[in-house]
Amino acid sequence: DWSMANFIEIEIAKIREQVGDKQVLCALSGGVDSSVVAVLIHKAIGDQLTCMFVDHNLNRKGEVEQVMKTFTEDFDMKLIKIDARERFMNKLAGVSDPEQKRKIIGNEFIYVFDEESSKLKDMDFLAQGTLYTDIIESGTATAQTIKSHHNVGGLPEDMKFELIEPLNTLFKDEVRALGLELGLPEEVVWRQPFPGPGLGIRVLGEVTEEKLEIVREADYILREEIKNAGLERDIWQYFAVLPDIRSVGVMGDGRTYDYAIGIRGVTSIDGMTSDWARIPYDVLEKISVRIVNEVKHVNRVLYDITSKPPATIEWE
Ligand code: XMP
Repeated sequence: DWSMANFIEIEIAKIREQVGDKQVLCALSGGVDSSVVAVLIHKAIGDQLTCMFVDHNLNRKGEVEQVMKTFTEDFDMKLIKIDARERFMNKLAGVSDPEQKRKIIGNEFIYVFDEESSKLKDMDFLAQGTLYTDIIESGTATAQTIKSHHNVGGLPEDMKFELIEPLNTLFKDEVRALGLELGLPEEVVWRQPFPGPGLGIRVLGEVTEEKLEIVREADYILREEIKNAGLERDIWQYFAVLPDIRSVGVMGDGRTYDYAIGIRGVTSIDGMTSDWARIPYDVLEKISVRIVNEVKHVNRVLYDITSKPPATIEWE
C-alpha cells in the first residue's frame, strides 16, 4: 500500500545504495522540484550532497535570500551560492530579441554551472528534479517549442555525472505532498511557476539593471496584495511585466514621462492554456495605487485580459 512515508523510506534506501560513499551535486533553482529533490537526497546522505545556486540577477525580490535561508539555516545543507549577476548582465547588454535572450540565459547558466562544478572535486552524481510529466511530455512537446524552454537546472547531456532522478515517477501534486512531508515550508511547496529565464523575459526588450529593479519592486507589491487578499491559491500565476514603453502622466504640478507596468494573472491547469484571472477591482486598485506610489519611474498600470491562446502567459 502506497503512502508518502513509505515512498520516502524506499527512495532513501535506493539513494544510499546508488550513491554509496560518493558525492552528489544538485543545482537548486528555488523551484518546487529542485527543492524537494535536494531535501530528499539530503535526508538520505547528509553532507555527501552539495547544492549550488546560481544567482543570475533575474530572480524576484527576496528569492535569493529565501533560498539561502531555507537550505542553509533551516535544513543545514551545504549550499554554494554563485554570484553570476555581472556575467549575465554583460551577456544580455544590448540584446532585445526574446528568443535570443532566452538562449543567452539558458546557455550562460550551463557555462556557469559547468565551470563552477568542475572546481568541486570528486562529484560523481548529479541530482535532478525531473518529474514523470517531464519525461512523457518531452516526446511530444509541440506547444512547448513555440518558445524555447530553457529550464534553469536543465543541463547538457554530455556531462560527466551520473544522474539521480528520484522524482521521475511522480506527478506535481505528489511532489508537493512529498515536499510538505519532508518539512519544506508552504511558500516553497506552493510556489507559483517561474520561468527559467526569470525576470529576463519580464523586462521586455533590453534588460537593464534599472528596469529589473522596477519590475522586481512592482512584482513584489503585486504578490503582497494578492496574498493580503487571500487569492494566492486561486490564481495559478501572477506577475508584473515591464513593457518597453513610456507614456505621459501627471504628478503634483508636473508632467511625467515614465514606464507602464503590465499585470498578468491567469487561471490554468497546466500552463498549456489559460484564462485571465478575474481579480476583484478593489484588489486591482490597491495594486495599481501602490505601484505608482511606491515604484519610481512608473506612472501607469495595465491589466492583461487575454487568454492563452492566442496570447502566451509570459509576454516574451
Ligand atoms: P507561456 O508563456 O509559454 O508559458 O504560455 C507557459 C508556462 O511556462 C512557463 N515558462 C517557462 N518555464 N522555462 C520554464 O521553466 C521557460 O523558459 C519558460 N517559459 C515560460 C510560464 O511561466 C508559464 O507558467
